[in-house]
Amino acid sequence: MAIERQCKLSCRFQVTVSIACVSGKGGVGKTTTVINLGAALAEQGKRVLLVDCDPQSNLTSGVGLDPYDERPGIAAVIGGHVEAAAAITETSWPNLWVLPASPDLSAVEGELASSIDKELALRDALRRDGARATFDYVLFDTPPSFGFQTISALAAAGDVLIPVQMSGFAIRGLKEVLRTVHLVRGRLNPDLAILGIVPTFVNLRTRFSRQLLDGLCELANIRVFATVITPTVKLQETSLAGIPITAYASSSKAAAAYRELAGEIAEDEVAPSV
Ligand SMILES: Nc1ncnc2c1ncn2[C@@H]1O[C@H](COP(=O)(O)OP(=O)(O)OP(=O)(O)O)[C@@H](O)[C@H]1O
Ligand SMILES: [Mg+2]
Repeated sequence: MAIERQCKLSCRFQVTVSIACVSGKGGVGKTTTVINLGAALAEQGKRVLLVDCDPQSNLTSGVGLDPYDERPGIAAVIGGHVEAAAAITETSWPNLWVLPASPDLSAVEGELASSIDKELALRDALRRDGARATFDYVLFDTPPSFGFQTISALAAAGDVLIPVQMSGFAIRGLKEVLRTVHLVRGRLNPDLAILGIVPTFVNLRTRFSRQLLDGLCELANIRVFATVITPTVKLQETSLAGIPITAYASSSKAAAAYRELAGEIAEDEVAPSV
């Protein structure tokens, strides 16, 4: 048993995994998922970078930073004013870093010269100086639209994670995500893969929620993670407190759910050695 385990470990290695959390719909739990999945991976000893690609800056405040601080963030990085490594900031939790945003991010697209490939500026900045290579996971949070910031995240990421809230509208929004991923693959990032769907706001006590979940699982060719995120006031409290659930309420069901999701993702992402 011990030999088998050792062999399994030595035959595998961890590469930097980069995941964009995307959904065309607002308020489905993208930011909550990025923060808490990231915190759960960091708790398991992975080095995690959270990248806030949303001018609302909810990820930035969600890990306890003030978006209105005068520090350089993602807008300065995309604009070419600072190196990514200089803007990446430690959080209060071990192994967890953030590239913060501020509302200025909404203006950065207009500042860039009307050169081609504006949407590749974030990808290229993260690649320079091996900035992203020092992390096991890079997780991108995106706004609820398919504009410049979301496309930049999709151009920089290897995988897409789609939180789907258990409502009919959100499931319709899923088609838009798939269409956008298809376009980004064709024009900017041919290797972009869909990691899977995380069902959010799942109330397993209602038949409606269960039926929608079954419907999702029947969708061809997209993995639906076994972990589901149920509604809980604890997650609302964490957004306000600026503390990940794993630290805010370590023994809560929500913390357990995000640890389980981290386990499912980490299990998947160990690539075979070459
Ligand atoms: N499982 C949950 N149970 C209860 N509240 C939740 C849950 N997940 C997220 N929330 C709350 O719902 C609100 C929206 O969540 P979140 O900000 O993560 O969504 P979002 O998809 O990032 O939204 P936006 O598209 O505006 O960026 C927040 O107030 C958050 O605290
Ligand atoms: Mg958000």
